[in-house]
Amino acid sequence: MARATSTYVCQSCGAQSRQFFGRCPSCGSWNSLVEQTAPAAGTRRRRPVAAAAEGAMPPQARRSEPIHAVGERPLQRLQSGYGELDRVLGGGLVPGSLVLLGGDPGIGKSTLLLQSAQAMARRHSVLYVSAEESAQQVKLRWRRLVDQQPEAAAVASGDAPEAGMQLLSETDLELVLQELEALRPAVAVIDSIQALHDGELGSAPGSVAQVRECAAALARIAKRQDTALLLVGHVTKEGMLAGPKVLEHLVDAVLTFEGDRFASHRLLRAVKNRFGATHELGVFEMRGQGLAEVLNPSELFLGSDEPSAGTATIVACEGTRPLVVDLQALVSTTSYASPRRTATGIGTNRLHQILAVLEKHLGLPLSRFDCYLAVAGGLEVEEPAADLGVAAAVVASYRDLTLPPGTVLIGELGLGGQLRPVSQLEQRLQEAARLGFRRAVVPRGSGLGRLAASLELQLLEAGGVAEALVQALGVNPAQGD
Ligand SMILES: Nc1ncnc2c1ncn2[C@@H]1O[C@H](COP(=O)(O)OP(=O)(O)OP(=O)(O)O)[C@@H](O)[C@H]1O
Ligand SMILES: [Mg+2]
Repeated sequence: MARATSTYVCQSCGAQSRQFFGRCPSCGSWNSLVEQTAPAAGTRRRRPVAAAAEGAMPPQARRSEPIHAVGERPLQRLQSGYGELDRVLGGGLVPGSLVLLGGDPGIGKSTLLLQSAQAMARRHSVLYVSAEESAQQVKLRWRRLVDQQPEAAAVASGDAPEAGMQLLSETDLELVLQELEALRPAVAVIDSIQALHDGELGSAPGSVAQVRECAAALARIAKRQDTALLLVGHVTKEGMLAGPKVLEHLVDAVLTFEGDRFASHRLLRAVKNRFGATHELGVFEMRGQGLAEVLNPSELFLGSDEPSAGTATIVACEGTRPLVVDLQALVSTTSYASPRRTATGIGTNRLHQILAVLEKHLGLPLSRFDCYLAVAGGLEVEEPAADLGVAAAVVASYRDLTLPPGTVLIGELGLGGQLRPVSQLEQRLQEAARLGFRRAVVPRGSGLGRLAASLELQLLEAGGVAEALVQALGVNPAQGD
C-alpha cells in the first residue's frame, strides 16, 4: 500500500517543500511552514458533486471562434437590497460570480450579509451557510434585525409567500457542496471561508491549502449552476486578507468593510471588481437594529455649523462619489527639539510636504511649531486634491483665522507652490453646491465658470498656493510676522 506523504506548506505564500525550514525559502517569512499530510495515492475519496458533474458532462473538444460571432448575453444583476452594496459591486450581484468580503473582527461582516441575504430572499432563493456560528446564534441575530423591519418581519413570520432563505450551520465543505447542489440557490453566503474544512486534506481549517481548496470547489459549483457566492474572509493583523493570494485571484470581486471601532459608520470598498469600477465607496451606519445605509454621507463628515479657526472644507472623491469633508489643523509653538507632526486620516508624509511648501513659498516659520491635523469622521483621504484644504487649515490655525463660511477648497499642491488641476472637478462642485456651499477655490483653467454660475457657486481660480489662500481667507497669510 502506498505511504501517506507529507509536505510543508508556507502559510503566507503557499510555497511547498518536502523539507522543513524555519524560514520560507520562497517568501522569506519566519515560522510559516506547516506540515501537511496528503492521503496516499488511490485512497482519495471522489467527491459526489464533482463526480456527478464530470459524469454528466464529458469533456468536449472546443474550438475558438471569431470574437464578433460570440453570442452576447446582457449581465443580469441581482439587487442585493442595499443600494450602497449594489453601488460597490458595480450595480448588483452577478449570477455565478464570487465576491469576497473582508474586514476586521466584529466590524459587521455577518450583519451586512445576513441583512442583504434577508432582503434578497424576498425575490430569490438564498442559502446562508454559517460555519462560524451555530444556527441558534444566527437566528438570534436575524430576529434582532428583522424585528425592526416591518416588511422583513412579514417574510419572517411566513405571511409573505416568498420566505426564501435557508440556513445551514456546517463546516464540512462536502456537506456544504451537497446542499448547494441540492438547493441550487440564486445566492449563497458562506460565513466564513476560513472556517470551512475539507476532510480530504490533512491540514487545519484556515490553512492555505484548506482555503485554496474550499474556494476552488465553491467557485466550480458557483460557475456551473450560476449561483452568486458571497464569501466572508478574515483579515490578518496587518489588515490584509488572510489566506493565499490565489484566493484574491480566484474571486471576481474583493470588498473590504472597514471603520473606526469607536465610530458608528462603516465604509465598504471594492478593492478588485471584474464587473465594475474599483474604489467605489458605500457608507453604512451600525445601529442597534443592524446596518443602515447612509444615503447622504457628506453630512457625516461635516463638522458643526460653527466656524472655528483652523477648519477647512474639502471635497474628496471616493471612486465616482464626491464627499464633502471637514479638516482641522492645530498649529502651536513647539516645546520639543524637533516639532511634532501628527495626522489622522491623511498620510504624515503628505503633511510634511505641504508644510515644507508653505514654509518655502509663504515664508511661514512652521518648523518652530507643532502641527496636528485630523479629518472629521475618521475618513481616510488619500488623494492629493485635499492638499489645498490642508494648507488652508494649517495657515488658518497658524494665523488664528476663520475661513469664510460656505467655502470649499480643491486642488493639488506642487512642490513649486503651484496649484495642479484635479480629476472630477465638475462632480465635486455639484456636491458642494448641493450641500449649500457658495464659494469654491480651485486651480486655474478649470473651464467650469458656466457650471459654477448655474450652481450659484462663486468660483475663485488660483495658479499658486499663495494666491489661493489670499482668495480663500481674504487676507495675505504671508504678511503679518
Ligand atoms: N445586540 C446588539 N445590539 C447592537 N449592536 C450589536 C448587537 N450585537 C452585535 N452588535 C454589533 O454588531 C457587531 C458584530 O457584528 P458581526 O458579528 O456582524 O461582525 P463580524 O464582522 O461578522 O465579526 P466576526 O469577524 O467576529 O465574525 C458588534 O461589534 C456590534 O457593534
Ligand atoms: Mg461574523
